[in-house]
Amino acid sequence: MARYQYDKKALKGLTPFPFLGEVKTRTAAIEAAPATLPKSIYNPNILAARLHPSVQHCIIQKVTDHGDAKSFTLVPDAAKGTTEMAYFRASQYVSVALNINGAPVHKPYTIRSNPKDALGTEGTSYTLTIKRTNPAFASAYILDNWKEGDSVDISGPLGDFYYQDLRDAKQVIAIAGGSGITPFYSMAAAIVDGIEDFRMTILYGSRKADGILLKEEIEALAAKSGGKVKVVHVLSEEEKDGYEHGFITAELIRKYAPEGEYSVFMCGPKAMYIFGEEQCKKLGLPKRLYRMEMSGDYMGVVNNPDYPKEQIGKSYSLTVDIRGEKTVIPCKADESLLWAMERAGIKAPAHCRSGECGWCHSRLVKGKVYIPAEADGRRLGDIKFNWIHPCVSFPLSDIELCVFPTAE
Ligand code: FES
Repeated sequence: MARYQYDKKALKGLTPFPFLGEVKTRTAAIEAAPATLPKSIYNPNILAARLHPSVQHCIIQKVTDHGDAKSFTLVPDAAKGTTEMAYFRASQYVSVALNINGAPVHKPYTIRSNPKDALGTEGTSYTLTIKRTNPAFASAYILDNWKEGDSVDISGPLGDFYYQDLRDAKQVIAIAGGSGITPFYSMAAAIVDGIEDFRMTILYGSRKADGILLKEEIEALAAKSGGKVKVVHVLSEEEKDGYEHGFITAELIRKYAPEGEYSVFMCGPKAMYIFGEEQCKKLGLPKRLYRMEMSGDYMGVVNNPDYPKEQIGKSYSLTVDIRGEKTVIPCKADESLLWAMERAGIKAPAHCRSGECGWCHSRLVKGKVYIPAEADGRRLGDIKFNWIHPCVSFPLSDIELCVFPTAE
């Protein structure tokens, strides 16, 4: 039996001879070309630069006060070369470049606005809603200092907490804690505008009714969604008609869960994630159907069950090697290597601050670190060759680290 079955007639007349002159033809074309680099710009490169700018120079156009939070509307600063805000998926974040008393810091904040606001090339904007949270270091600085007309630099859109219809169910239970409403606000706006196509019930946890961030705004979006977006307020410190009371438990999720399959998205403090994951397990949800927004500093490392408790209160030396120039700084055991570098005024690369984006990827030359398992985004090659993410690495000894800052 023949090894390959094909219609030999289809290949009739096809010989290698027409190709034999190709090298000669190509060589002649190269020799005839001018000795200058081609000027053509490829559309994929233009698109990539528009979607993934390394930096966006912005002006704060408007500040809205919400009490212990503020919303900042950012527009492109054309004088500095940014002519449009990059398009983003609802729930993505940007990392904001700050200099706080000499400490260069990058902090991630969710773009709370509708992705439609960044479409087109004119009048594009982002809105960030920032709450005075713990650690208040950067958010307090922003709330106390940013004002209309100021210039700020931010990264391109980052993060993958957005809805993915290949993986996520068509119905989503969104669990929000405090300023954790911001990605769901953006998703709700995208659903209302037809940019996203799924149904979402937001279980929105707050302490008291009068402290609910963006309450009227998110309810107005739900009212416009034709039933696709629902909001249920859950108060932990107050009992009131029309509100759920207590924590967002498996029973509460079941009460509002739709018929059929649903995904659970969570955004809020770490304690909420620990509790929320337990509830998802009680509900029997497979891991692919629940996930959390992880960007932001890894907090409370010493409370992790596997953290070596004898380290609490210790301090080590951290030698930072940037292109052969070494600086020695102190680093507390309960602070990440990234925090220690920033505090010492070292401009270390960072975006997510949670081990996800890989931006801070650095080489551990000497020493031992503790890396929380759930924030360990290293690949096998990283582990083998001692690459770590300083944003989620905590010293267990004196450390030497090679850091590779990126040009902005
Ligand atoms: S800043 Fe993203 S992995 Fe460290």
